Amino acid sequence: AVERTLSIIKPDATRRNLTGKINAKFEEAGLRIVGQKRLQLSEAQAGAFYAVHKERPFYKDLVSFMISGPVVVQVLEGENAVAKNREIMGATNPANAAPGTIRKEFAESIEANSVHGSDSAENAATEIAFFFAGTEIVG
Ligand code: CMP
Repeated sequence: AVERTLSIIKPDATRRNLTGKINAKFEEAGLRIVGQKRLQLSEAQAGAFYAVHKERPFYKDLVSFMISGPVVVQVLEGENAVAKNREIMGATNPANAAPGTIRKEFAESIEANSVHGSDSAENAATEIAFFFAGTEIVG
């Protein structure tokens, strides 16, 4: 089925001017960028977005990293978009990411791993609503 998923190009990638190269990976794989904006997240916003990781040891560093520079938040649309985006991104830890994936090619570390993608259709709906008004998504 055609789905939507939430993607974030993280500060390590915007800092290195990789937005276009990352978007090319999505588009080459058949995902359409139907919503997109560049934002400087506040600490409160980043903390709320990653609230599910609140108890994890990496939470504080993750929030600091996510506010260390601009991010690009995006809505990707396509057949099986949630799973497809996870394939294109590769494993969370770039050391384990498959050749050709965004994280293999671009990520600096498990934390500065260049992109975020929703992990389920249910979370995708929540994450898209976190950043986008309905009128900001044009399919
Ligand atoms: P993301 O897919 O955005 O979801 C949570 C993020 O936490 C993850 O990508 C990484 O950027 C970051 N992170 C930092 N350390 C870890 C870790 N040990 N395990 C998982 N995620 C981590």
